[in-house]
Amino acid sequence: MWAAPRKRFIQIIMTTEADFQKFVDDGYLIIKDFLSEADINEIEQKCYDIVQEMNPNEHTLQTFSTSEDDQNKKRNNYFMESADKIRFFFEKQAVNEKGDLTVDKHKALNKIGHALHVLDPVFKKVTHSQLIQRVAKNLGFKKPVVVQSMYIFKSPHVGGEVVPHQDSTFLYTEPMNILGFWIPLEDCTLENSCLHFIPGSHKNGVSRRMIKAEDGVSTTFVGPLLEFDNDKFIPAEVEKGSLVLIHGEVVHKSEHNYSEKSRHVYTFHIAETEDTKWSKENWLQESNSMKFPPLYQ
Ligand code: FE2
Repeated sequence: MWAAPRKRFIQIIMTTEADFQKFVDDGYLIIKDFLSEADINEIEQKCYDIVQEMNPNEHTLQTFSTSEDDQNKKRNNYFMESADKIRFFFEKQAVNEKGDLTVDKHKALNKIGHALHVLDPVFKKVTHSQLIQRVAKNLGFKKPVVVQSMYIFKSPHVGGEVVPHQDSTFLYTEPMNILGFWIPLEDCTLENSCLHFIPGSHKNGVSRRMIKAEDGVSTTFVGPLLEFDNDKFIPAEVEKGSLVLIHGEVVHKSEHNYSEKSRHVYTFHIAETEDTKWSKENWLQESNSMKFPPLYQ
């Protein structure tokens, strides 16, 4: 899959052959100055407008119950039905025991997902941009589809920790052919909880999978939860408008954001379809009403 870079790739995204080799070796790559200031502003404004139009109660109440069991069930349903929708996932700390927000709605969200790239024209345009398509082509993807998209907020104080994981735990194909595009819309530093990677950890396969449970409406994990040595994680501080390519199997994490600064990111994943099988056990499945769109359009 990870073919040698073509010269055109190097020219277009202004990186070097050594950088490309770094991606193959490390399982991630930071490409600076990928998006213009105008693009960044357009995405951020669009997200602001989507949140501005959203009534939090319509969403928190769908996932709220005084019974913990019932609440977990509702949360599961809300998540499992989000593949072909624009849904709003709030930080636990930002919702009180009555289901009301404790902070402004623009600062209460963990993420929006998972079909922004299909349902919203701005996110669709960014996802299918010529530059993104060329990156995928030059990495050797033949018939990739976009399987999900998310706007991640990592808001001040409430932005929760993301524990060490591999994206292929959640999005599994045989053979493994998943790639994440991660585009920071604000500078990401240690202060506002940038990503941390274990370089080279994508070479050891996937230790754990999240699959649909037998009831068909919840998920369960199979495989051991591996412990990772904290010292092996390398922080990836990146400037806004960069592109971070994330191999589906590289181990990464981010800490709780205790700072005053948010850390907004637009991210989406592609999966190869040529000679590759999308696992029927994945929580995320295309529906009759919404097929995974081909990246190349
Ligand atoms: Fe991830």
